[in-house]
Amino acid sequence: MHSNYEIDEMISAKSIAARVEALAKEISEHFEDTDKLVVVGLLRGSFIFIADLVRELDLPVEVDFLEASSYGNSTESSREVRILKDLRGEIEGRDVLVVEDIVDTGHTLHHVLHLLEARSPARLMTCALLDKPSRRETGVKADYIGFEIPDEFVVGYGIDYAQRNRNLPYIGAVRFTS
Ligand code: IMP
Repeated sequence: MHSNYEIDEMISAKSIAARVEALAKEISEHFEDTDKLVVVGLLRGSFIFIADLVRELDLPVEVDFLEASSYGNSTESSREVRILKDLRGEIEGRDVLVVEDIVDTGHTLHHVLHLLEARSPARLMTCALLDKPSRRETGVKADYIGFEIPDEFVVGYGIDYAQRNRNLPYIGAVRFTS
């Protein structure tokens, strides 16, 4: 476990806000005919992103949350995905947008989509703030992506390193110093 690290700003709060607004516009246009969009945030990393995103959506939305385990307190992704907290509501026949903080190996999103598809939603789409395509181990790709980033461990704007730094207003790259 690394104990010393520095954080270098990678994406500013201003850039995030502008990108969230643009994504919300695209999503609002795509779902403009819906009266039943359920926005599903994957806990815990998406909590700030989903809060900002839904406030920019020009649609009637419901918000629900699902928690899947992926990372422990390490920087390596686990391939085993467990559902720790399921949705409160039914999604059968409904339009669903899954909101994820980062798609890394893709195992989490792949597993969650498989689970939700089995519940027969009308439309099932995905939005990830960050995408690390070079790390992908599955065929999954989010429909809406905020930023493509290199293979770096990042924190902030809801994303943690060992449960810390979620409250940073920007996305920063972690630089281990020892
Ligand atoms: P995947 O299953 O490998 O795609 O991992 C997805 C999850 O791993 C994300 O929702 C994050 O919670 C976590 N994760 C992936 N990359 C990072 C990172 O750079 N910093 C912090 N958490 C990460």
